Amino acid sequence: MKAVVIHSFGPANVLQLEELPVPQPTDDEILVKIRAASVNPVDCKTRAGNYPPVQKGQLPLVLGRDVAGTVERVGDAVTRFKKGDAVYAVLDRQHGSYAEYVIVKERDLARKPEQLDFTEAAAVPLAAVTAWQGLFDHGGLRAGQHVLIHGGAGGVGHFAIQFAKARGANVSTTVSKEDMEFVRGLGADQAIDHNSQRFEDAVGQGEIDLVFDLVDGETQERSWAVLKQGGTMISTLSKPSEAQARAHAARAENFVVQPNGAELNEIGRLIDAGKLRPHVEAVFPLAAVRTAQQQLERKHIRGKIVLEIGS
Ligand SMILES: NC(=O)c1ccc[n+]([C@@H]2O[C@H](COP(=O)([O-])OP(=O)(O)OC[C@H]3O[C@@H](n4cnc5c(N)ncnc54)[C@H](OP(=O)(O)O)[C@@H]3O)[C@@H](O)[C@H]2O)c1
Repeated sequence: MKAVVIHSFGPANVLQLEELPVPQPTDDEILVKIRAASVNPVDCKTRAGNYPPVQKGQLPLVLGRDVAGTVERVGDAVTRFKKGDAVYAVLDRQHGSYAEYVIVKERDLARKPEQLDFTEAAAVPLAAVTAWQGLFDHGGLRAGQHVLIHGGAGGVGHFAIQFAKARGANVSTTVSKEDMEFVRGLGADQAIDHNSQRFEDAVGQGEIDLVFDLVDGETQERSWAVLKQGGTMISTLSKPSEAQARAHAARAENFVVQPNGAELNEIGRLIDAGKLRPHVEAVFPLAAVRTAQQQLERKHIRGKIVLEIGS
């Protein structure tokens, strides 16, 4: 099978299109024939050697954490899927989807939403499950609460806005000026241009129940001013200050997304009910993976970039 492999860390030209053997599923594993995969910031950070969980000793490596495709073969212990089923998943770090086939554990796999084609479906798993786990599993967001989402126009943020609205929350989000209409279209109650306006002035001091931080750095530090006493701060990037958390009687965590087929099935039901939609900004063939990663790293991207792989 064709696969994009890295043998060393570095710029996008370390991504090499190569021939690898098709893996064979055993026990609770499923071989998926890949139709599309998406590009996530973690792929670029891993390729560059800037993602500490992946070290040199684990090379060579096939990148890619999202997959949409069809079941090709199942292990003996698999009960819920059969050849031909249309599926999607978040992959664990041991498997990569920049390839024609990949192995997925049965518990991590979900039915592809019927309303989406494979390209759209590949845009969903990692970003949407991160948004779900950040807002609900870690953030405990409830109807009527006010959430501030930093970076609302990106892969994770554009799902987070839609989930929070579907849950009945009041949503403020920081974005670039060009993305203000985009996030309002997703349901955001308040869009704040992070370049021209201080979000502290826009939302007010001590007003926010949950800060969902997808940006980090000074954006995270400044967010303490808007958090309610007893509020929650959740980051996908770095652990918020424990001293500030104590001062605000707040719960503050960072987390790493975990593959979860059950949550992905629930997300698929929201998609099929018309309550959630991925935004695919650009599509590339697998052979153009270097350009796809460079675009995610350098350009202003709304939603997701997808690689189309098989047919
Ligand atoms: N812990 C985990 O398991 C996990 C899971 C998924 C993602 N992540 C991380 O979470 C971050 C977000 O992921 P993603 O997939 O959503 O990335 P993305 O698609 O690149 O989106 C990031 C968004 O943040 C915006 N942004 C940058 N600086 C900003 C600022 N100061 N204020 C407001 N918005 C700003 C960007 O807009 P502009 O282009 O206009 O700057 C972009 O729309 C990434 O760093 C990723 O690595 C972690």
